[in-house]
Amino acid sequence: MSSNVRPAAMERITTPELAKAFIDEQVAQVRAQVGDKKVLLALSGGVDSSVVAALLIKAIGKQLVCVHVNHGLMRKGESEDVIRVFGQEMDANLIYVDATDRYLDLLAGVSEPERKRKIIGEEFIKIFDEEAAKLEGISFLAQGTIYPDILESKGVKAHHNVGGLPEEMDMELVEPVKLLFKDEVRVVGEALGLPHSMVYRQPFPGPGLGVRCLGAITRDRLHALREADAILRDEFDKCGLAGKVWQYFIAVPDMKSVGVKDGKRYEGWPAIIRAVNTKDAMTATIEEIPYEILHKITNRILAEVEGINRVCMDLTPKPVGTIEWE
Ligand code: XMP
Repeated sequence: MSSNVRPAAMERITTPELAKAFIDEQVAQVRAQVGDKKVLLALSGGVDSSVVAALLIKAIGKQLVCVHVNHGLMRKGESEDVIRVFGQEMDANLIYVDATDRYLDLLAGVSEPERKRKIIGEEFIKIFDEEAAKLEGISFLAQGTIYPDILESKGVKAHHNVGGLPEEMDMELVEPVKLLFKDEVRVVGEALGLPHSMVYRQPFPGPGLGVRCLGAITRDRLHALREADAILRDEFDKCGLAGKVWQYFIAVPDMKSVGVKDGKRYEGWPAIIRAVNTKDAMTATIEEIPYEILHKITNRILAEVEGINRVCMDLTPKPVGTIEWE
């Protein structure tokens, strides 16, 4: 096992040239470690697992088996992007598991946030185990551990990430980016040819939209949340805020208010916009969004999203409010 300590002399990877040198070195190292054996990777579509996937595809091609579990709580288009980029463009060995029904059935009626997180995390491990059991000759487990994970002494991403894997999985680890900081992982990802939108993706919690569809998740409210969130992201992309704001999303609480649409009473849920800036997610400030953009987002959500009849803006810094609502 290689060292978990970043050598003091290790240069910060800031340019495509430095990224290329790192990639060449890791490709050789991974080939030496793995030989002709197979490697399994849980590919969430997040920055770290995506960069590891691209790196390992370059190093060992089809000896890498990627498993993407769609828990039904992804943002609009995310699983489709994983399939397109890795399954089609990079021609990876990709197993896609649509576990939407399984998750939503398990989560039905569960309103307590930590219980929701637990169900989502545990089910992921079960599904990943089931898929691993169907495969033969897997000797290694790849993980997108990065240096901050090691510094936070989690070692592996098992804490509250859905990417956390069963400890009893008795496989040797392949962790090619474990000595890199996030900004370096992104530079390496771009050098590997991953799309900019994937590499510079804003942070997204493991339990996904599950912690933004507040209280007990229902399919109709989850659908409304996903559509409203897609509009927010689209408008932030168009006006340049996407590259400026650290994290932005919609939360939809389990409450209705009265409204009026097409001359008729229209009861619906509120869509709450949250857009925050932070360095380390321990504290956060509120991004000032021009009213013109807020009006545009509001009008689109009200016109395009079934079930939403109000749009609100959360102006709460952290502390007191956490970034997520639950
Ligand atoms: P809070 O809400 O605690 O969030 O201010 C800080 C950062 O952590 C993310 N977050 C999570 N990430 N699993 C994750 O992988 C979770 O259960 C979870 N809860 C919050 C949140 O999106 C923010 O970036």
